[in-house]
Amino acid sequence: MVKVRKAVIPAAGLGTRFLPATKAMAKEMLPIVDKPTIQFIVEEALKSGIEDILIVTGKAKRPIEDHFDANYELEANLKEKGKTELLKLVEETTDVNLHFIRQSHPRGLGHAVLQAKAFIGDEPFIVMLGDDLMEDEIPLTRQLMDDYETTHASTIAVMKVPHEDTSKYGIINPGEEVEPGLYNVKDFVEKPKPEKAPSDLAIIGRYLLTPEIFQVLETQAPGAGNEIQLTDAIDRLNKTQRVFAHQFTGKRYDVGDKFGFMKTSIEYGLKHPEVKDNLKEYIINLGHELEAQDQPQAPKTEK
Ligand code: UTP
Repeated sequence: MVKVRKAVIPAAGLGTRFLPATKAMAKEMLPIVDKPTIQFIVEEALKSGIEDILIVTGKAKRPIEDHFDANYELEANLKEKGKTELLKLVEETTDVNLHFIRQSHPRGLGHAVLQAKAFIGDEPFIVMLGDDLMEDEIPLTRQLMDDYETTHASTIAVMKVPHEDTSKYGIINPGEEVEPGLYNVKDFVEKPKPEKAPSDLAIIGRYLLTPEIFQVLETQAPGAGNEIQLTDAIDRLNKTQRVFAHQFTGKRYDVGDKFGFMKTSIEYGLKHPEVKDNLKEYIINLGHELEAQDQPQAPKTEK
């Protein structure tokens, strides 16, 4: 059986929800406390046993490449000053088998994945989106790779979302649950209104795909937002070969919009050894201040 060895990280979107921060910088470089989101994704891939990673970049390609490249000047400076802990952090990011390709126009996630065709060749592979940070004992990417060993088929990560939120996601119409948390999929529906949603199981940012997806993407017409949608292509793939959905039960941090990004920054800050105590104290005090502000003011008495 062919092993899953490669991952694709699309990072060529316009990131309009974070403008103006993303005018000259990919949103995947925005940091959670002190680490760019794309580094969390690369770390998940490596922990899962992925050997080669392709990052699909857009206009703001340089900072991503530089981040994962050696920076001799900085390293020499840290060495000279004896900052060994920081040096370790900086060097950690360079020991990865990374490759880059450019998506010249952001025509959608499906189009970004299509750019990986030559790199992937005839192997199953993983797609990882920087919008979602995942936490579980076993990394979600590894969970999908483990599924592949028995299914030998494309498997999409899904998670239960509040029913009123279905219109923000691709939603699956699940068929039989072949083993706990692993479903056959009847259809994939892009962003259905709650009253039309076939389930509350939403596609989240990890996919294991067979290489046949590329033939589908090559003929995929633009869908929602006039973009080539990966969900539409997976739905078509599902008509010719089995596609499964794997229900993730760990913790997902949605960093794709401002509020989700802020919540994640706070939660990660509360776990960060350097800032957690101060941050906790700050949040508690802020809570008291906000509560006091919300109390009805006692009427001023006339002198
Ligand atoms: P999003 O829709 O979340 O990213 O795509 P976006 O378009 O950059 O964000 P907004 O909505 O304008 O704020 C999901 C992932 O797919 C990548 C994005 O970089 C993101 O990681 N993507 C999207 C591409 O690589 N190319 C595209 O054409 C579109």
